[in-house]
Formats: sequence, C-alpha cells, structure tokens
Amino acid sequence: MRSALCYTFFVFVLLYTTTRVTANPLSDQAIKRINSKQKTWTAGRNFPAQTSMTYIHNLAGTLKDDTQRNLQILKHRIDLIDNLPNSFDPRDKWLKCMSLNEIRDQGACSSCWALGAVAAMTDRYCIFSEEKKQFHFSAEDLISCCETCGLGCVKGLHIAAWIYWTRLGLVSGGNYNSSQGCKPYNIPPGENYVTEELSPLGRIVDISQCLTFCDPSYNVAYRDDKRYGERVYLIERNENQIKIELFCNGPVEGVMEVYSDFLNYKHGVYNYTEGESIGHHGVKIMGWGEEHGHKYWLVANSWGKDWGDEGFFKILRGVNHCGVEESIVAGEPIIV
Ligand SMILES: *[C@@H]1O[C@H](CO)[C@@H](O)[C@H](O)[C@H]1NC(C)=O
Ligand SMILES: *[C@@H]1O[C@H](CO)[C@@H](O)[C@H](O)[C@H]1NC(C)=O
Repeated sequence: MRSALCYTFFVFVLLYTTTRVTANPLSDQAIKRINSKQKTWTAGRNFPAQTSMTYIHNLAGTLKDDTQRNLQILKHRIDLIDNLPNSFDPRDKWLKCMSLNEIRDQGACSSCWALGAVAAMTDRYCIFSEEKKQFHFSAEDLISCCETCGLGCVKGLHIAAWIYWTRLGLVSGGNYNSSQGCKPYNIPPGENYVTEELSPLGRIVDISQCLTFCDPSYNVAYRDDKRYGERVYLIERNENQIKIELFCNGPVEGVMEVYSDFLNYKHGVYNYTEGESIGHHGVKIMGWGEEHGHKYWLVANSWGKDWGDEGFFKILRGVNHCGVEESIVAGEPIIV
C-alpha cells in the first residue's frame, strides 16, 4: 500500500516536471532538444528565458485574411522559369537598394502585418525606380491610420495594408529614434520592453490617433509626402510563380504560422520540429537558395537584428511549409 502511494507520488512529480519543461519553449532544455532532433537548422537563444508569453504572442499578429479573395491573382509567363538561377538574393541584384539589408523591429506591438508590407514596399520603390530613388515607407502611418487593416498593434490584415497603400497612400518614416521621414516608428525595440506589463491584447493603438502632419524635423507636408501603390495582386501558391515575382519585381509579403520552436531559430533551413502555434506572422520573402540539399526561401523577419540569422531566416521551400506560400501579396508602386 505504502509503495503504491510512493509510486503514485513519483509519477505525479515526474509528470509535473516534464510538462513544466515542455511548457517553456524558451528554456535551455527546449533549445537542446530541438538541436538533438533537427538536422537542417540550429536553435539558440534569441529571447531571455523568462520573456512573458504575452509578449511572445504579440510577435505573431497577422490575422488570417480570407476577405480579399476577389483580388487579382497574378500569373507570370511560365517560360520565364528557364531563366531563373538556382539561388537568388536580391541584395546581389539591386545593389543600390539599401533597404534590402534592413531588418525592422516591431517591439511590443503586433504589427508584423504592417512591417512586412512597408518593408517590401520600400524595396519595391527603389527597384521600380531602377535604383534611382529611395522612399522609406512608414509603418507608423499604416498602423495608426488604416481603419480597414484591423486593430493597429493588436493584429492586422496584411492584404488590407497593401490595398490601403493604393487607395490612401503612405508617408515616409524611419525606424524608432531615427528622426527620419514624416512619421518614424514610435515603439522601441522589443528587448527593452520585455518586462513591461502589457494588456492581454497588447498595446492598443487608437485609430483616432492618426496624425495627419509630419514630424517637425521633417520639412514636408503630410499630403505631399504620400506615395501610392499602382496596383496590388496575390501570387499563386506555386513555387515557380513566387520565384518569378521575386526575381522580376522584388520582395513580397507572406504569412506563416509561427510555432514556438521558431522563436529559437538561429541558422539553417527552418523545418517545424516541436511546439504549439503562436499565431500567424507577416514576413518579407526576398529570395531563395539551397543548403545541404534543402531548398529554402530567404526571408526577412521583423524581430530586430539580434534575432535569428542577423534578423533573417531560411525556411523550407516548395512544400508550403507553415503555410508560407499560400497568402502572398505584392504590388507595384507609383514612382514620383
Ligand atoms: C532613443 O533616444 C533617446 C534620446 O536620444 C535615448 O535616451 C534612448 O535610449 C533611445 N532609445 C533607444 C531604444 O535607442
Ligand atoms: C523535417 O523534420 C522532420 C522531423 O521533425 C523530418 O521527419 C523531416 O524529414 C524534415 N524535413 C526535411 C526536409 O529535412
């Protein structure tokens, strides 16, 4: 009787400790476990182990957008495939477009849907101007002014962001503390805010706070600073169609499902290993390649330069891994 009781207690303790270990996806154990299971990528520490789950859930704040299915789906001429290289990094093709090297940082704001969009728009402005012009699109303007995009810092719709660009345009704006452009980003980088108390929904940006004037240091009227998209389209869920679009027109915005192991990504080609879904995440897909026989997409994240591979990551290509190939949006800017 006594030994049965002991046994029950022992099982209980064992269960309790194992569930506790798996519960924190940022623990050293989780990182070790991923590295023992995974051959294509390496995990490491990106966030302090005690980072709150509220903050983590804010990192993936794109709403699954099924409302824009009537948008045109662009189909490229399929014969273009023959001219595509085995690997492609836009930083080697459009050398003067400096934004291709940039990594944005959303901070404690669920604005990945907006940052992925303005990052790709910024690259495209340079690419479509034949590398003659740079215009750094403001995430702040999009987050605080787009009423049809969702809830600002509390998740948003990535396709709606691109449509807003064609209808109402966006002004310029640098990163946090940059004092550049009309409306620089207002939220400090993540690490500084890790310990701050957030409401369960994160920081709510009041849409009525949409400022229609520029920073005093920037000597242009808000209306005059607006730049517009000419047209917006979806890309067919097809590896070659995505490649042609990237190669001809530049980066696109996609949405992937983020699982907790991805938080610890450092190098290599990401392949889901373990953990629960954190949410949907807007990212800027830039190029492609192959590493040790594994085909990948090259992607820019918006979690700062300290995360991952200096802010970038690679993810399995051609298998719609984590849904990354299924809701890709892009567009053409009007160059002025
Ligand atoms: C932003 O700039 C202010 C004033 O220059 C400085 O005190 C602060 O540390 C900066 N914040 C970050 C996150 O760089
Ligand atoms: C991805 O990882 C799983 C195990 O988690 C493995 O079965 C699969 O073969 C891997 N895929 C690639 C392409 O390596």
